Amino acid sequence: MDQRSSSHVLIFPFPVQGHVNCMLRLAELLCHESSIHVTFLNSEFAHQRLLRYTDLHLRFSSYPNFYFRTISDGLPADHPRTGDRVVDLFNSINAVTKPRFREMLSSGSLQSSGRPPVTCIIADGIMCFAIDVGNELRIPTILFRTFSASCFWAFFCVPKLIESGDLPLNGESDMDKLLENVEGMENVLRLRDLPSFCRTTDLSDRGFLSVILATLRTTRANGLILNTFEDLEESALAQIRKHIPNLYTIGPLHAHLRARVSSSRGELPWRSSSSLWEEDRSCMAWLDEQPLKSVVYVSFGSMTVLTRNQFLEFWHGIVNSGKAFLWAIRPNSVIGDDNIPAELIEGTRKKGYMVGWAPQEEVLVHPAVGGFLTHSGWNSTLESICEGLPMICWPFYADQQVNSRLVGAVWKNGVDMKDTCDRITVEKMVKELMEVRRDEFTKCSNRMAKLARKAVTQHGSSYSNLDRLVEDLKKMKLQL
Ligand code: UDX
Repeated sequence: MDQRSSSHVLIFPFPVQGHVNCMLRLAELLCHESSIHVTFLNSEFAHQRLLRYTDLHLRFSSYPNFYFRTISDGLPADHPRTGDRVVDLFNSINAVTKPRFREMLSSGSLQSSGRPPVTCIIADGIMCFAIDVGNELRIPTILFRTFSASCFWAFFCVPKLIESGDLPLNGESDMDKLLENVEGMENVLRLRDLPSFCRTTDLSDRGFLSVILATLRTTRANGLILNTFEDLEESALAQIRKHIPNLYTIGPLHAHLRARVSSSRGELPWRSSSSLWEEDRSCMAWLDEQPLKSVVYVSFGSMTVLTRNQFLEFWHGIVNSGKAFLWAIRPNSVIGDDNIPAELIEGTRKKGYMVGWAPQEEVLVHPAVGGFLTHSGWNSTLESICEGLPMICWPFYADQQVNSRLVGAVWKNGVDMKDTCDRITVEKMVKELMEVRRDEFTKCSNRMAKLARKAVTQHGSSYSNLDRLVEDLKKMKLQL
């Protein structure tokens, strides 16, 4: 076949856990559903970790048109790449990765005897410089934002929030004030529910500017992919479509992949782990011994950093609730010394289990798990929704402040513990979730799980949108 008649998609994620895993799922879906050539451009750092902790090559070995390539993220290997230092990553990607990305594409080094030239770039929306490179080389670019549509829309409305005087914050800002200028979400978002980057008193703040400009520039791309589904974020999606009509909502991607791959192979693809840390599977055997729906799973994701005081308050609150718990606490995610009070060690021995990194997708499916204390990362939120698990939300940064508000005030499948984590509140909320308001939350959670499943089965909205994306990608040819 003439190579120029085949499509070749370059997928380029922002190189941190929550972005890499969902863009890998997209890559696998494209390979599974078509013969399109797909190159996944990962950072050297993230790729080394994937090779070390997953069976990545085996997972993709059945897709002959799939390739991995790597690029530097510009940071030294020992940089923590945590949420509190994410601006370092923005800066280094701009300074180091961006010119190399351009060079990689313009030199034609991504094509080879078996591989046609790149016909479309699907880049993480945070790295919107990909649009400029695409324009220069006449390659269409579709952006992929890994967080909620509601967060994207809130970012999009920031110029209006500046105009109305809600932003920047000042000493007198009332964080509980309901915002009138995030259209479609009036009476939902308060100032404290805006993405963490908006919590600034300085409009020239680097983190704030990066995400706002990247969001506004999305209108220049050939389309936008979101890991969400229509029934979940109807009003934000309706608003976004007014500005970006070519919108592909194809999530929840983990469930979508599971649905498509298992329906064709008759198996659950648990081998789809994309962990950048080593999964400690011993917790699965511990879960097997726990009663039905009795365990609270606790995890703050891949980038949260806790102070020692926050860590101890959570720990006391969870132990004092008397509920069984499984806590995935990432290595080096707590600042400060590790002198642990004896009552916590004793409480954990009786009712708890702690690991450094859990096989989270499997944990959330386990029948012993009855609730999720989460940082409201978008992947975790979607994974929890799909399993019908109610949540206690303690957002740390980025989109998480918006996501937790959706849980507490819109979907009502859990509680939003935003901006506080004293032991009394933690204990109270764990009891509410697992006991006092359990029926109420379970009802809402089950309803949402049903909608999520519907979206990714044949004729569902996400299923149809992925088919449309595949068809559009096939039509894209080099405009030379
Ligand atoms: C952050 C953002 O908050 C998120 O919304 C954004 O889109 C990506 O960056 P992160 O802290 O990585 O995310 O959280 P989340 O989006 O929830 O992703 C974490 C992923 O790691 C999930 O897929 C989860 O299943 C996995 N995980 C987490 C594990 O496999 N094991 C663990 O122990 C913890």
